[in-house]
Amino acid sequence: MLSEKMLGALNEQLNKELFSAYFYLGIAAYFKDRSLDGFASWMEAQAEEELGHALRIYDYIFNRGGRVELERIEKPKQTFESPLKAFEAVYLHEVGVTQSIFKLVDLAREENDHATYNFLQWFVEEQVEEEASTKAIVDKLKIIGDSPQGLFMLDRELGARSAQLRALLTQET
Ligand code: FEO
Repeated sequence: MLSEKMLGALNEQLNKELFSAYFYLGIAAYFKDRSLDGFASWMEAQAEEELGHALRIYDYIFNRGGRVELERIEKPKQTFESPLKAFEAVYLHEVGVTQSIFKLVDLAREENDHATYNFLQWFVEEQVEEEASTKAIVDKLKIIGDSPQGLFMLDRELGARSAQLRALLTQET
């Protein structure tokens, strides 16, 4: 059974993961408006992944006999100065999510909640990957600078990669 404090914190994280899905979808729409379909598709795949993260927590709460409390989801930002600014926002968002997962891990440890501590380890690893992949794209966009050719090439690369990721996600479900 989950403590009230742990349950509240997990429900908060559930809301953050749902917001993350919304956040990525908002940025996907920003890219789609600019006909950068590869970038958009990468963001859409990311939104699906975030929904998967939310569902993991949703299932876990039920499995531990807790009550899921869905809260209002904040409106995401949909305008950015440039693709680089959009990806910088994504990277910072993921850094924030990592901090939030770490706080949950700290709480699970304080409460000697071994099951939640174990459950959260998947998220700890996932965050390392999410930070690394978004940082890599920020770095590439910095190199590209104002080059339309560079942007076009990266758009193609991200489009191909997200098509693979979506195929994997479909296989998993
Ligand atoms: Fe679910 Fe990207 O953190």
